[in-house]
Amino acid sequence: MRAIRVSQYGGPEQLKLEEVPRPEPQAGEVLIRVHAVGVLPMEWKLRRGLFQGRMPLTLPYIPGSAIAGGVEQVGPGVETFRVGQAVFGRTSKGGYAEYTTAAIENLALKPEGLSFVDAATISGGATVAFSALFENAKLQAGQRVLIHGAAGGVGLFAVQFARWKGAAEIIATASAQNEAFVRALGAQTVINYAKTRFEDVVHDIDVVLDTIGGETLTRSMQVVKPGGILVSLLEEPSQEEATRLGIRAMSNKPSFPWPSTELLQTIARLMTEEGVKTEIARTFPLHEAAQAHTLSETGHGRGRIVLLIH
Ligand SMILES: NC(=O)c1ccc[n+]([C@@H]2O[C@H](COP(=O)([O-])OP(=O)(O)OC[C@H]3O[C@@H](n4cnc5c(N)ncnc54)[C@H](OP(=O)(O)O)[C@@H]3O)[C@@H](O)[C@H]2O)c1
Repeated sequence: MRAIRVSQYGGPEQLKLEEVPRPEPQAGEVLIRVHAVGVLPMEWKLRRGLFQGRMPLTLPYIPGSAIAGGVEQVGPGVETFRVGQAVFGRTSKGGYAEYTTAAIENLALKPEGLSFVDAATISGGATVAFSALFENAKLQAGQRVLIHGAAGGVGLFAVQFARWKGAAEIIATASAQNEAFVRALGAQTVINYAKTRFEDVVHDIDVVLDTIGGETLTRSMQVVKPGGILVSLLEEPSQEEATRLGIRAMSNKPSFPWPSTELLQTIARLMTEEGVKTEIARTFPLHEAAQAHTLSETGHGRGRIVLLIH
């Protein structure tokens, strides 16, 4: 089968299209013919070797985890999925490939009303937004929320999930190009981060979701109201500062199995029945994975980049 492999850490040119053996599903796994795979920022960070300490990879490896495709074969003992079913979720075996295997606990059936390309934006995007807002921050109806990077692959779902939950006010940060888009998702106030320092205009927030890190994270601590919470996708916030301000601050902690079939099903239901929408930034064919990474590495844009494979 054709797959993109990385044999040495480095730039986008390290993403090479190669012929590799088709994997065999093990017990508790299925073989998936991949139709679409989301391109997550994490994947260019891994490719650059930025996580060698925390997440060492065995080279060569096939990148990609956020998949949608068809079940081609089931592994020993698998009874929950059948050949021919359309599924989506997460693989840890590499999704930038014509076929991959995935653990059944990280997959769900794809509803007919959801396309493969849209389903490929769920893992690593919607799943993260849901877990950060509801499992970690325990967002309640009537609370005020600030979502940074609201036009991104995580942020766009976070804004809509906060609206679905009944947040009293959704405040979001985005560039001028994405202001109208983020407002249409449900944010009442959109702060152009290039023009306005959010901490000058926003205070007393119950829940802050930080998808940016660095200075955005440190400056966000002061806008959380005492007793409120900040969840960062990027870094472990300073506990000393959190204690001084009387707030809670944490990095996003996923639940296990990650993501669970139940979480994936919940999100698919929100998308097919509750009007939650995704946004595709751009699609690329598998052999243009390097161009897809180059675009992702800009750190700007609207929605998720997706590789279309079949
Ligand atoms: N730890 C975890 O569990 C976890 C999980 C998923 C993602 N992440 C990380 O979270 C980050 C976001 O992920 P993603 O998939 O949403 O990324 P993405 O799709 O690339 O989106 C990033 C967004 O950030 C916006 N942005 C850039 N600079 C900004 C700033 N200073 N203030 C506000 N918005 C800004 C960009 O919008 P403009 O075009 O408007 O600038 C863009 O829409 C990535 O670094 C990713 O690696 C962590």
